[in-house]
Amino acid sequence: MKVVKRLSDLRSWVAATKARGEKIGFVPTMGFLHEGHLALIRQARSDQEVDRVVVSIFVNPLQFGPREDYREYPRDLERDRRLVEEAGADLLFAPSVEEMYPSGFATYVEVTGQLTSVLCGRSRPGHFRGVATVVAKLFNLVCPDCAYFGLKDAQQVAVIKRMVEDLNFPVKIKVHPTVREADGLALSSRNTYLSPEERKAATVLFRALKEAEEAVKAGEREARVLQEKLSRTIQAEPLARLDYAEIVSWPDLEPATVLLPGMTYLLAVAAYFGRARLIDNLLVEVQ
Ligand code: PAJ
Repeated sequence: MKVVKRLSDLRSWVAATKARGEKIGFVPTMGFLHEGHLALIRQARSDQEVDRVVVSIFVNPLQFGPREDYREYPRDLERDRRLVEEAGADLLFAPSVEEMYPSGFATYVEVTGQLTSVLCGRSRPGHFRGVATVVAKLFNLVCPDCAYFGLKDAQQVAVIKRMVEDLNFPVKIKVHPTVREADGLALSSRNTYLSPEERKAATVLFRALKEAEEAVKAGEREARVLQEKLSRTIQAEPLARLDYAEIVSWPDLEPATVLLPGMTYLLAVAAYFGRARLIDNLLVEVQ
């Protein structure tokens, strides 16, 4: 596997690959890889539509707020390099902040409106502007035919799909279901922040989502009732500090009032456990 840090070296590799008529699959990440990331890389590797797999590792300062965890975000490039290679990627792109954002950088991509004003968009102002900007840059550098994203970050998927459509990026977005621990906790690089007690407490997120999903299956159609149920379950966990618990339409992220048959809804939660802010979600199709 080739490891590339410079934009110019990446461009040469991409040009040579395209010249051979080979299709590129791309998995953007911020590193400190876990099974969720590796599942995306394996999905790309086994995708009949692509010949070469590129993985990027870049902790993107633009998507962190001033009081967020950019500095502490876990990093281990050597371990990641080994994992990416084992998962079957052809090239690992790990640029520096200076190469991605040289002095004078002044252009941003912003998906406006509903998609970025709810859920994490409300709690983390500027976050999705940072995500859209870096993903647009990465797409322009890697020129992927297909790019792979996890449903763990469902709002990110909705935002990226909107950007790709609006700005005519010639890339197909493919989505992988959330990979979880045996007890339901969604894998996340931020789980490393959790103490053993917090780690146990964090399972409340998936438990709350499953309960709400069960209630929908049992016939509950009032979004307010379901949201209260989600909030109550999470707030009953002493180590959890609730950020949000919401039900929105999928993929438009419009607030739901009464759940309608034939529609899909996103049950989405975010909570702090100590200094770790964790998110989780479930998509529910109403019969
Ligand atoms: P990061 O959090 O490293 O995640 C990289 C990709 O892995 C994202 O598509 C994310 O949804 C997916 N992922 C993370 N945990 C997962 C899980 N438990 N199951 C399935 N997929 C999972 O998301 C980002 O980085 C950044 O915002 C990025 C898109 C790289 C832009 O900086």
